[in-house]
Amino acid sequence: MATFPFEIKAREGKARTGVLKTPHGDIRTPAFMPVGTAATVKAMYMDQVEQAGADIILGNTYHLMLRPGAERVKRLGGLHSFSGWKGPMLTDSGGFQVWSLSQLRKMDADGVTFRSHIDGSEHRLTPARSIEIQADLLGADISMQLDECTDFPCTHEEAERSLNLSLDWGARSLEAFGERDSQTLFGIVQGSNFPDLREKSAKGVVSQGFGGIALGGLAVGEGHDQMCATIDMTVPHLPDEKPRYVMGVGKPIDLVESVARGIDMFDCVLPTRAGRHGQAWTWEGPINLKNARFAEDLSPIDEAVPSPASQDYSKAYLHHLIKSGEYLGSMILSWHNTAFFQALMAEIRLSIAENRFDALRRELSLRWAATKS
Ligand code: GUN
Repeated sequence: MATFPFEIKAREGKARTGVLKTPHGDIRTPAFMPVGTAATVKAMYMDQVEQAGADIILGNTYHLMLRPGAERVKRLGGLHSFSGWKGPMLTDSGGFQVWSLSQLRKMDADGVTFRSHIDGSEHRLTPARSIEIQADLLGADISMQLDECTDFPCTHEEAERSLNLSLDWGARSLEAFGERDSQTLFGIVQGSNFPDLREKSAKGVVSQGFGGIALGGLAVGEGHDQMCATIDMTVPHLPDEKPRYVMGVGKPIDLVESVARGIDMFDCVLPTRAGRHGQAWTWEGPINLKNARFAEDLSPIDEAVPSPASQDYSKAYLHHLIKSGEYLGSMILSWHNTAFFQALMAEIRLSIAENRFDALRRELSLRWAATKS
């Protein structure tokens, strides 16, 4: 089981900044991974994603196995070549998307059978098939174990049954993954918001020997404070030397507070999804360009974000594009939001290196307090 070299270069409190080295390039941590679900970061060119400062993007087993098909992606040269993304790529295992998107799903001890949300056709994912898709067919640098994302809220009994299943699937995923020099596999901690179950899951996943550890079952409606509490109850059981990844998170304030709790990696659809809906995240907080108050506002979205999307187009123009349903509105706002999230991560990394992360955290926490709910 290859473990990518992870060098922590500076720390402040529980926060750390460093570099995770992969065969497709270095990932500066803490890192935010734009979501490239269907071999595309929606409404963006890969050049823009890279120039915005992203070191790594995420792809999805679930979507790609349904369309265009994982075997087809392999025949077409793998996900890097197919999509044109040259840097590191992480893929999610499919469990979460089956849980959130598929029409009918039937879990059993060996995997999950589900119907496609696209055409209703029946498919099956097992731990071994998910690894085959991610590592062999798509060619992910970092694969994720197949897991079950527990419903929230749920009972202690349900959360325990679910985490035991995920632990078993973790062992099967590792066995299917085998020995590989240039690819790695991360495990996923579940256990809902129960301290004893997060501890049990974390200790189990850690003992299995993955190349990194993810926290799953978050960003499922628990809210900012519960998310922070769950990270707090999990991180003490994780090894210091491996990367820690909170899946599906989050808003800028979630990123800052998670970093303060020792998290190194994130992914979320927020920058691109919000962009398609007319929302821009800025250093001053979120704004919605649909709002009539921007109709004659010639100022740029956020001059402090180093991207043409943030500096070269007026709010009035974006208001017009979004109100008119023009594709370009979605494109510029997705580009801006992606650049803003990367600028935030760059500032977080620099502030840890300069031992002023706590001051940054306090300032942003005050400024973005309204976005915590
Ligand atoms: N993305 C967001 N949350 C989860 C999770 O719990 N599991 C997986 N596999 N992906 C996720």
